[in-house]
Amino acid sequence: MTQANNASIESLLAETRVFQPPAPDTLGFKAPGGRGPRGWHIHSLEEFKRLHKRSIENPEGFWAEEARTVEWFAPWTRVLDWKAPDARWFVDAKLNVCHNCVDRHVSAGYGDETAIVWEGEPLGVRTGHPAPGSKYAKTPEIKRLTYRQVQSEVCRLANALKALGVKKGDVVTLYMPMVPELAIACLACARIGAPHSVIFGGFAAQAIVERVEDARSKVIITADGGYRRGDVVKLKDAVDQACAKTSLVKDVLVLRRTGHAVQWHDGSAGGKRDHWWHETVPKMSDQCPCEPMDAEDMLFLLYTSGSTGKPKGIVHTTAGYLVFVQMTARLAFNLIPSSGQLFWCSADIGWVTGHSYVLYGAMANRVATLIYEGAPNFPDNARFWDIIERHKVTQFYTAPTAIRSFMKWGTEFPARHDLSSLKVLGTVGEPINPEAWIWYHEHVGGARCPIVDTYWQTETGGHVITPLPGAVPTKPGSCTLPMLGVDAAVVNEQGEELPPDRGGLLVIRKPWPGMLRGIFRDPDRYVQAYWSRVFGKGAGGERTPYYFSADGARRDKDGYFWVMGRVDDVINVSGHRLGTMEVESALVSHPAVAEAAVVGMPHAIKGTGICAFVTLKSEFLRTLPGHPDDAVRKALSDHVVREIGAIARPDSIRFADGLPKTRSGKIMRRLLRDVAAGVEKITQDTTTLEDFSVVARLRESDEE
Ligand code: WTA
Repeated sequence: MTQANNASIESLLAETRVFQPPAPDTLGFKAPGGRGPRGWHIHSLEEFKRLHKRSIENPEGFWAEEARTVEWFAPWTRVLDWKAPDARWFVDAKLNVCHNCVDRHVSAGYGDETAIVWEGEPLGVRTGHPAPGSKYAKTPEIKRLTYRQVQSEVCRLANALKALGVKKGDVVTLYMPMVPELAIACLACARIGAPHSVIFGGFAAQAIVERVEDARSKVIITADGGYRRGDVVKLKDAVDQACAKTSLVKDVLVLRRTGHAVQWHDGSAGGKRDHWWHETVPKMSDQCPCEPMDAEDMLFLLYTSGSTGKPKGIVHTTAGYLVFVQMTARLAFNLIPSSGQLFWCSADIGWVTGHSYVLYGAMANRVATLIYEGAPNFPDNARFWDIIERHKVTQFYTAPTAIRSFMKWGTEFPARHDLSSLKVLGTVGEPINPEAWIWYHEHVGGARCPIVDTYWQTETGGHVITPLPGAVPTKPGSCTLPMLGVDAAVVNEQGEELPPDRGGLLVIRKPWPGMLRGIFRDPDRYVQAYWSRVFGKGAGGERTPYYFSADGARRDKDGYFWVMGRVDDVINVSGHRLGTMEVESALVSHPAVAEAAVVGMPHAIKGTGICAFVTLKSEFLRTLPGHPDDAVRKALSDHVVREIGAIARPDSIRFADGLPKTRSGKIMRRLLRDVAAGVEKITQDTTTLEDFSVVARLRESDEE
């Protein structure tokens, strides 16, 4: 594994291939280049570069122009109010995101166009006969919702939330499977101005407790369960466990999806706590006005991992986020309304990619979005290709880790399917190795679809570095050039831009509308995490902080960005962002563990795997005959899954008598990373090591 990964890094450094964008008409897009009522469509590199330059020289002019592509209830008085690190975009303006994603399309006469196409995971549950064009013997459940249907469902749910006492500004927690009701729930929250906090269904009860308490959220929307690789994921059970640990939650609205038996609870103050969706929501009126929101009112909160054990509640607000995701979705995927496109982003709505592109980006652009409930390998390894063929997906957006799994499964699976509907492919979540890029290009894209390798983060709201499919030549492994209006750079610790091919820190030098506005209830951490590391010069030569991404990168002679990965204690495991400290906290909460250190290690499929170094308590060791064995490993690993979720299951647990520390007591993570990666010669300066012999013993503890 290590070898494969080192080989990938080398091939990334040696990559020289360039793929020209296809001619716009061969992409099958009707939109002309230049600026139309829906904003820019860009069909050449020259046009893109010219516009980018303009957008950086005059950001307020650029964004004011772009902002005309959304509908406002009241105009702004200033485009930007920037007092680093606090940005206010479209000051004083009023609007509603749900209005822009749903109502404006219905009012403009597009109510009968498809908004959402949904496919459940199980086959043959409802109808038992094959879907047209399917290579499977039984058909999955499929739902299609028009904008008009979405509008009435959203209104009913919005009224149900109001009936539960939810008011503007109250955070509503969503913990749901990938069903249309999750999209409806987000939109209903946006409609009434109640920020949503979506928790990925793969997280465990403890994660719900932490997030609910931090957000002070009193209402949870969940489901009895969801389907994943043929199993039922019991979401309601996890919510019950969470509610047993916090008295904050007053109401739980439960969607019936799987139909298995669930427990039913009353509220702590008497009265009902749990309510069935199907008994509550359909009774409500399908009329509910969109709340006029201030441009800077919070749209949602999304918890993500940082360098400490506690996840950060990333705050996104209304206007800037909407303008930014609408533009980036349109440009990066070439979204054209009423052109029969079907956009499929395979990310879960529980992650930012699902928020910005499954949901808001696609719907703001009035392009149908496909939501698939389950796993790519159910009932077999061709499920995604079967979906693309049957539904005629035009843009497909997934993660490098998924592509590496597809590669491992073999070319015969995509080859069995007609993928000719595809026009644009996208990837996100981690650096893509050129081998995976080329495989994706050939076996999924038929060597004809441009690949957009989109670099961004929960904090950036939307794409900040990405090719535009009809304009920017691509190089496998590079996310190419910054998005319009985004001033990204690779700098040294002093904030000076580095010459080509020198590795440095990836920063953004000017505010952009999609940027986070803060960390919920933690302004100091906001400053410390993003705005205290790198400083440069502002417009008037004054010292100003740059947004620090915590990623390392280099630019090549063409100005293309090559992201090398995180420089902090965050790891991207199968494209899922995790903090090593979170896994450490989970490990030390086990009674047998004295100390734990967690680092990323190269992994052929996941990109980064989780390696935990653990010292056990001596009293625990005494109870064990001989050495800690696989049973202890399994117990610790299961404990982490219970505490955080299956995405955090360690790939390797190594036992040690002690962890290498500096004299001031800090764990030497860089050194542990080298040990985890199996680096033969420990390159780091180890003179500050408290006890060098620890390293030798750590290496001997390798479980293989
Ligand atoms: C990584 C996901 C290289 C990066 C949208 C970033 C990438 C982290 C790419 C954010 C890419 C995302 N190339 N690395 N195209 N896209 N990353 O917050 O390390 O879940 O900091 O947002 O993923 O992960 P997050």
